[in-house]
Amino acid sequence: MEIKKIVMGSDHAGYQLKLKVKAHLEARGFEVIDVGTGSTESCNYTVYAHALCEAIQNGVAPLGILVCGTGIGMSMAANKHKGIRAACCENTFSARMTRMHNNANVLCFGERVIGYGLACDIVDQFVNTAFEGGRHQARVDDINALDEGK
Ligand code: RB5
Repeated sequence: MEIKKIVMGSDHAGYQLKLKVKAHLEARGFEVIDVGTGSTESCNYTVYAHALCEAIQNGVAPLGILVCGTGIGMSMAANKHKGIRAACCENTFSARMTRMHNNANVLCFGERVIGYGLACDIVDQFVNTAFEGGRHQARVDDINALDEGK
C-alpha cells in the first residue's frame, strides 16, 4: 500500500515541530491533514489525540503522527482508541520496527525530546515501512482482541 495521506496533530508543546514535519512530508508529496492545535497557546493534548484517532477510524488516512512535549501523553491517549496502535519513538530503529512488527498506525514523539532532523528521519522510516505480517499477525490480533473485550 502506497501511503499518500497522513493525519497530524499536536498540542501547544508540539506545535512548532509539527509544522516543520508537516512541511517535510508535503515536500515529499504527502497530503497532510492537520487536526490542530493551531498555535502555541496552552491546550490539552488529549483533544488532538482523540481527533486524530477519530480521523483514522473514519478512514481519512491510514497513518497518523502526534507531537506533544514528550510524545508520551499523546501515545497514552491514542492507545485508548479502538483500532489504534500508537508508538512513541525517539529513534529510527524503533520507528521502523513498530511498523514491521506491531503494525503501528500512529507515531508519537516529543518536541522537547528530539530535534527536527531526527524527527524527519523517524517519520521517513515510519511512513516508508510496511507491516511484515506472518508471525507478527497473531500478536497484533491479540492486541486488537482487547478492542472487542476479549
Ligand atoms: C505539556 O506541557 C506537556 O505535558 C505535553 O505536551 C506532553 O508532553 C504530555 O505528555
